[in-house]
Amino acid sequence: MKLWSGRFEKNTDALVDELNASIGFDARLYRQDIQGSLAHSAMLAKQGIITEEDKEQIHKGLKEILAEIESGALSFDNDVEDIHMAVEGELTRRIGDAGKRLHTARSRNDQVALDFRLYLKQEVTELRDLELELLETVLELSKSGMDVVMPAYTHLQRAQPTTFAHYMMAYANMFRRDITRLEDCLERMDECPLGSGALTATTYPIDRAFVAEQLGFARVTQNSLDGVSDRDYALELLNDLSILMMHLSRFSEEIILWCSWEFKFVELDDAYSTGSSIMPQKKNPDIAELVRGKTGRVYGDLMSLLTVMKALPLAYNKDMQEDKEPVFDALDTVKKCIPVFAAMLKTMRLLPDNMRAAAGRGFINATDCADYLVKKGLPFRDAYTLVGRLVSHCIENGKTLETLEIEEYKKLSEVFEQDVYEAISLDTCVSNRKAAGGPAKESVQSQIDYIEAFIEERR
Ligand code: ARG
Repeated sequence: MKLWSGRFEKNTDALVDELNASIGFDARLYRQDIQGSLAHSAMLAKQGIITEEDKEQIHKGLKEILAEIESGALSFDNDVEDIHMAVEGELTRRIGDAGKRLHTARSRNDQVALDFRLYLKQEVTELRDLELELLETVLELSKSGMDVVMPAYTHLQRAQPTTFAHYMMAYANMFRRDITRLEDCLERMDECPLGSGALTATTYPIDRAFVAEQLGFARVTQNSLDGVSDRDYALELLNDLSILMMHLSRFSEEIILWCSWEFKFVELDDAYSTGSSIMPQKKNPDIAELVRGKTGRVYGDLMSLLTVMKALPLAYNKDMQEDKEPVFDALDTVKKCIPVFAAMLKTMRLLPDNMRAAAGRGFINATDCADYLVKKGLPFRDAYTLVGRLVSHCIENGKTLETLEIEEYKKLSEVFEQDVYEAISLDTCVSNRKAAGGPAKESVQSQIDYIEAFIEERR
């Protein structure tokens, strides 16, 4: 018999129950559901809406149920519909009339909104801590690569030299923003919707602020229609997770490239690589590929919920039961990806000689050669054209800017002198880029200091 069966003359069809039931995925909200009911019943008693004795019974019953779910002694099947009905039904079975009073001045609509927010607040906090650990890993990696010169690319063409430390700090800043995005999301999510009722609040003299405080919310939601129909917090979280995964996916893509024989900038630890069933020589970066692949899945979760919410009239509609699975899926996915990705980074071996060798090819110092001429008094545009001609001369004659003789240089411009070799050496190219944000050691050091302070504030 359904808790709402009063108005009906027949039981629902079994197929309806199967489609309607959300217990299969919302059972994971049991803790939040019970926590919410504890606070709600405490408020009802405080306001004289139920008696102290009823509240005592409700609390005792709910705590027993919680302990039994936790120990595995109690579980629910499909016919209970959802976690809210399951807990209330079980409570009433145990304590009778007092259990029937729990749902006074409350609807499943504000109840589910409450449970979801409570659950996500906890998850966001955990995610943020996970990403802080990832950020720390990247920071360490950066410190280990202060003197490792490597090429930086645009269009995946060698562009200018940098250091591995500088490169890693780019990812550190992406992760820093991810963390602040999660914090922003948490700040807006931190509102208690309980008391919105089904949609237009309630006639009972409830105390919403009391419930909010009991449950650790910063404040209550401002409008009851919005309180039960808002899922922005879930969408924001999915958006934040999508961007976070996009960052992991870009990083993964680079690691996949760097592991290839064409690059060979890094070597993954055996514990974080896989082999092939047929090609004995293979060592594949499957972890990075899976993280890249799972990014698509998280984007899909965001699209699902955006599409569910589009065109829903106020207030609650059953469509909104479809909010949970994509959010849970995205959370589970991201929580699985971050730690293994961090561990893969931690155990990854750098191959600095290969990075430097790659930086030594591809005329990566051509900009610096032009800058050399500018320092000698040429306008930049003229210097740029001249070095372009120099590069094509080198390509025709199988030379590099480093191996081209000074006489050859001088044929193009008398301005060139012996000191050009020093000016275009890879180490000079890097150490001269002292501008804020650049790869020179002191510049990278202040980037590291900034992130260290960011982490410190949160520890
Ligand atoms: N299982 C429902 C959900 O997840 C709970 C709210 C149901 N409310 C209702 N009026 N049918 O959205």
